[in-house]
Amino acid sequence: MDRVALLGLSRLCVLWAVLIALFPCGTQGNWMWLGIASFGVPEKLGCANLPLNSRQKELCKRKPYLLSSIREGARLGIQECRSQFRHERWNCEVATSATPGSSHLFGNELTSGTKETAFIYAVMAAGLVHSVTRSCSAGNMTECSCDTTLQNGGSASEGWHWGGCSDDVQYGMWFSRKFLDFPDRNATGKESKVLSAMNLHNNEAGRQAVAKLMSVDCRCHGVSGSCAVKTCWKTMSSFEKIGRLLKDKYENSVQISDKIKKKMRRREKDQRKIPIDKDELLYINKSPNYCVEDKKLGIPGTQGRECNRTSEGPDGCNLLCCGRGYNTHVVRHVERCECKFIWCCYVRCRRCESMTDVHTCK
Ligand SMILES: *[C@@H]1O[C@H](CO)[C@@H](O)[C@H](O)[C@H]1NC(C)=O
Ligand SMILES: *[C@@H]1O[C@H](CO)[C@@H](O)[C@H](O)[C@H]1NC(C)=O
Ligand SMILES: *[C@@H]1O[C@H](CO)[C@@H](O)[C@H](O)[C@H]1NC(C)=O
Repeated sequence: MDRVALLGLSRLCVLWAVLIALFPCGTQGNWMWLGIASFGVPEKLGCANLPLNSRQKELCKRKPYLLSSIREGARLGIQECRSQFRHERWNCEVATSATPGSSHLFGNELTSGTKETAFIYAVMAAGLVHSVTRSCSAGNMTECSCDTTLQNGGSASEGWHWGGCSDDVQYGMWFSRKFLDFPDRNATGKESKVLSAMNLHNNEAGRQAVAKLMSVDCRCHGVSGSCAVKTCWKTMSSFEKIGRLLKDKYENSVQISDKIKKKMRRREKDQRKIPIDKDELLYINKSPNYCVEDKKLGIPGTQGRECNRTSEGPDGCNLLCCGRGYNTHVVRHVERCECKFIWCCYVRCRRCESMTDVHTCK
């Protein structure tokens, strides 16, 4: 296994370690449900033993068949966050040094009110919509199924009709709201009230991204594939595409005022009049630069991260290492190569060695 894969694996182990460490904690955060991602067979554990808050436990007891979708939604969201940010200084890394008792999966990023908080909330809420909707379309649920409003519709003159199973996101959207959207009852201070409103808005922005990227797939029928007749159905985009849209929203996210008013407002005085769209990501606080380790904030810093010497992007050594420079190591790869098929029936390969330079931030 090469070094990069090993690194990935060790990060994964840290993730599991943290997820499992979360389990015995009794804190009542809205986000404990993410811990579910680590359970092999949550259905067998029963709702009472899962890391959920009391409201979520109630919902879980009423709808235990949704547990595997909840777990899948958490997995989708975490994986997509890490994938979208793998080249950035903040790489959606799990805090390994979370302050005892805080027990947050994403460390400080869950409560800091930054653009990163916004992305996490949006991508997790979207993940839940996606996984629940998949389960509806697979016929696994009695409360939802394919989108039946489209049946018998279409346009005969244009030679197509709705058919097959169209994904119906309505139930998934409803469930994601029900499961995630409740104001933080602990939000007493004005700062935490604005933070709570911001989080609810970003949850919804995540769900809107799933709805917005619904697309139509068609299959042709007709004499020798002439496409005289088409059957079409609506389908959700891949979660990767949804993640990319949310990353774009993250990059264009809107800073809001931390003053409590009836509605949330933009922070920029000359833009106060511009209404806030429901699909925009909102944040309150400017992000730290994520360059150096800060144990208190759970920021690991970029020391030791692998960087790309020739890239001008965020993964380039200059940006990623924050100007501190980098170390170069030579890494030896051994792989099977020049494989030949030998009649009959096996494959013979040579062992090839190659050396590559790997750069890591100082
Ligand atoms: C509310 O906040 C207090 C102190 O920060 C904490 O101990 C408690 O667990 C929180 N309760 C909930 C329901 O989050
Ligand atoms: C539907 O249920 C089957 C059997 O329980 C399971 O194998 C499958 O993964 C489920 N599909 C979805 C999309 O939830
Ligand atoms: C490094 O960046 C360059 C330029 O963006 C790119 O072509 C190359 O594939 C990258 N190398 C690695 C190992 O990612």
